[in-house]
Amino acid sequence: MYKHDGMKLKERINIAQVSRGRMPLILDGDPGHDDAMAWMLAASADIFDIKAVTTVAGNKDLENINRNALRICTLFGIDAPIASGAAKPMYGRVITGGDFHGVSGLDGADLPEADRELSEMPAVELMAKVLRESRQPVTIVSTGALTNTGILLEAYPELKPKIRQISIMGGGIRNGNWTPAAEFNILVDPEAADIVFRSGIPIWVSPLDVTEKALIYPADRERFRSAGSRLAEIIGGWLDFFGSRHEGMGWEGSPMHDPNAVMCLYKPEIYTVKDVYIRIECSGEYTRGAMIADFGDSEHYNARVLMDLDREKFVEELLAAEERYR
Ligand code: BDR
Ligand code: CA
Repeated sequence: MYKHDGMKLKERINIAQVSRGRMPLILDGDPGHDDAMAWMLAASADIFDIKAVTTVAGNKDLENINRNALRICTLFGIDAPIASGAAKPMYGRVITGGDFHGVSGLDGADLPEADRELSEMPAVELMAKVLRESRQPVTIVSTGALTNTGILLEAYPELKPKIRQISIMGGGIRNGNWTPAAEFNILVDPEAADIVFRSGIPIWVSPLDVTEKALIYPADRERFRSAGSRLAEIIGGWLDFFGSRHEGMGWEGSPMHDPNAVMCLYKPEIYTVKDVYIRIECSGEYTRGAMIADFGDSEHYNARVLMDLDREKFVEELLAAEERYR
C-alpha cells in the first residue's frame, strides 16, 4: 500500500519535539498579512533563532512579496539574511492571490521603508547554506507555496537530515478555500507539496481545519490597536484590512492562518493534534492540490496535523508577541 513506503515516522516526530537551546528557523513565505503576523511571533519568541527569511510568489508577484518581506523584517528587527525565492511553481501555471491582501500584498498600514537589502543568494542556495552550516537541525516554517522547499529537497537530498521538521500552513482536509478541494498554498504548487510530504521529514500541518477557527474578531482588533504604539497602529491597520476583506464575504472575523505554523512549535499545548498519513493530489480535474488524509492507521503517518485550537489563547499569545515589542 502506498502509505507504508517503509516509513514509520512516529518515533521521528517525537524525537523532533525534543528541544535543546533555541530552535533555528528558516521563515519561508509570501507576505501577506498573516505571514507578517507569523514572522512577528517567530521574531519575538525567545525560543527561536531566525537564520534566514526566504520568499515565494503567492499572495502577490515576487516583486511585491520581496518588498513586503524587507519591510516586515525592518519593522520587527529580523536581522537574518533575506533571499528572493521562486517566482513560479515547479511545474504548473502561476496562480496569485486575489484581493485578500490588497494591491501591495500588505495593504492597510504605512510601513517604514526597508533598511536592508535582499541577499545576493537565491532562496534555495541560502536555505542550503544555513542547513550546511547549522550545528543543530533546522526547522523550516512554510507559510506560502512549498516551491523553495521542494526544489531544495530535490537539489540537495543529502541535506535532509539537517532539517529537523517542516511546519506548514497549507491544505484543508474537510474543505479547500481556492477550489472546493484545494487550499491556496498547496494549489499554487502541488508538486512541491508532494515532494515535501513524501520526504520522510517530520511535518507539522496547520490546515484550514484549524486556521479557519483561528479567528480574529473586530473586538480583538481593538485590543491589538490599544497599545497605542506605532507598531500597534500598523498591526491594527493590517487586521482591519484583512478583517474587512473577510467580513465582506460573510465571515464574522478573519482567519489568521499563518501564525499557526509558528504557534504550534511555540505553544503546542493550545492545539488538538492528530497524526495522519497525507498525500497531495497533483492531477484531477476538480481535485488538483487537494490534501488527502488517512485517519485510519495510527501506526503509519507522515504528519502531525492541527485539528482544533484554543482560540482565546491563540489571540492572547499574538497580543503578547506584539507587547514584547514595546
Ligand atoms: C494561505 O493563503 C495566503 O493567502 C495566506 O497568507 C495563507 O498562507 C491561506 O490559504
Ligand atoms: Ca501566506
